[in-house]
Amino acid sequence: MSEKKKKRPSTIVVEGGRRKEWRGPLVNVPIERASTLLFESVADLEGSRPRLGTYRYGLQGTATQWALAEALTELEPGAAGTALYCTGLAAITMPLLAVLAPGDELLAPDNVYGPTRRFCETFLKRYGVQTRYYDPLVGAAIGELVSDKTRAILLESPGSQTMEVQDVPAICAVARGRGIVTLLDNTWATPLLFPAIAAGIDITILAGTKYVGGHADVMLGTATATADHYERLQVVSWDLGQSVSPDDAWLGSRGLRTMAVRLKQHEAGALKVAEWLKSRPEVGRVLHPALPECPGHEYWKRDFKGSSGLFSFELKGVDGAERAAFVDRLELFGIGYSWGGFESLALPVDPHRTVTAPPAKNLVRLHIGLEDPQDLIDDLAASLKSIAA
Ligand SMILES: Cc1ncc(COP(=O)(O)O)c(C=O)c1O
Repeated sequence: MSEKKKKRPSTIVVEGGRRKEWRGPLVNVPIERASTLLFESVADLEGSRPRLGTYRYGLQGTATQWALAEALTELEPGAAGTALYCTGLAAITMPLLAVLAPGDELLAPDNVYGPTRRFCETFLKRYGVQTRYYDPLVGAAIGELVSDKTRAILLESPGSQTMEVQDVPAICAVARGRGIVTLLDNTWATPLLFPAIAAGIDITILAGTKYVGGHADVMLGTATATADHYERLQVVSWDLGQSVSPDDAWLGSRGLRTMAVRLKQHEAGALKVAEWLKSRPEVGRVLHPALPECPGHEYWKRDFKGSSGLFSFELKGVDGAERAAFVDRLELFGIGYSWGGFESLALPVDPHRTVTAPPAKNLVRLHIGLEDPQDLIDDLAASLKSIAA
């Protein structure tokens, strides 16, 4: 795209990837299902190279997957391409495998998403990669933790349970200076609220299962990378047989078209509920990146264009059973894994850490959906009343 016609992010989510040559007269690029793609001749077949945008084999996808990948790449100024995966977790593990080799060391935040930590402690360990965990608020002092073996730094900002916002530019500056690759789980913010490549990240990851899909009906992962990393990331992913089905990619594109407006509604609802919770005597800290009491709030204020729908809060003076009962009593909040859909969810969370002290006890994590926030507040108020009773 020429510089002159540079589009704004809310336009890109609508327009991105909807090339005329892919969609024809349709508004949306259709679902093209394929394993085998037929060539005109043996010479054509032998001359083809595996890459997005070329019909070759189902693994490299069809226009359905290319459209989603192209839109996500366009949303990240400075990115060269996007690899798609069948889950958000695969979009974390595959880039790590693309970057790390036996003998290397990975630095990961101590509050990292649980299954990511499990992958580091099981698979990566067996593969000969050691993971060391750092305080997510370490900032530029990450330089003191780096060793000769450190090949990559993983970031997750904010953390998906305790919500610490990281000083991403400071960590990236240290990493760049030492030839270390940075990978960010940017699922909470998406490129709409935090364009990560522009902030210095090499590979930015979304669990597309959350806000990209947006309707709790698809599993999807995406990794968008700079020119230095995209090619290798894509080739390693294909070497490991990773792709996403056209049906799931299509649901991703369908979700993406409304992501900007949905995020605004999630933001408004979550802020209203978070502010209300702050006023309640049964509630301790409210860990929402846009509130000053959230660790790393100053980085959110400096770097982010807004907030989304996920945050946590402390319930005061309850034990585990009372916390579970509080969640069970809620009528408008579902109980279940994941988040980012149109519906509200509540979950007791118990962060697992090894190097930094847990910053909060008796946490409940909320995902604020697209319901009227006053109804959600009424639901929370009714359940809080039963604690006090
Ligand atoms: C922060 C974060 N990253 C990654 C994932 C993994 O995504 P998926 O469930 O699509 O594998 C999740 C899922 O809950 C998550 O919360």
